[in-house]
Amino acid sequence: MILKVSRLGHPVLRNPCEPVPVKEITAEPIQRLIDDMIETMREYDGVGLAANQVHVSQQIVVIEVERNVRYPQAPAIPLTVLINPRMVANANKQLKDWEGCLSVEGFRGEVPRWDWVEVEAYERTGAPVTLRAEGFFARVIQHECDHLAGKVYLDRMPDLRSLSHLQEYVRYRQEA
Ligand code: NI
Repeated sequence: MILKVSRLGHPVLRNPCEPVPVKEITAEPIQRLIDDMIETMREYDGVGLAANQVHVSQQIVVIEVERNVRYPQAPAIPLTVLINPRMVANANKQLKDWEGCLSVEGFRGEVPRWDWVEVEAYERTGAPVTLRAEGFFARVIQHECDHLAGKVYLDRMPDLRSLSHLQEYVRYRQEA
């Protein structure tokens, strides 16, 4: 089922999400929520989605990139579901690149992110997993983990002057 996406200004985006009790991960309500989040992410051409972006304040994110029309230059990322993710290590260097967000629809801004991150989480099977990601994948993980902490990418922009409407970003800022 395609779910309604929460938009900036809705308090659910600003409240830290609750961890999912591990024994509930494989139960039907959480499994259905994960399926609906994947369907919603694909419907709106997102590359990632956090549960509070569909009005559920629980620590679940889904990520996938497969020839995305909103991010045509993004490298492919296999479908990834992270429950209760926790960043346990990161690069000592940040890189700046453009981000958007389904909850801040129609904008792009330059955001510095760690070049690589290591995350501990649970998979949808309930199995614990440690994941190391770099580049755009690491960027999406940091963006989505921020959502779970009640943050959006605008909070991470040291300089709001790059903030652009999507059409103007395509016209003036997008690099070939
Ligand atoms: Ni977002």
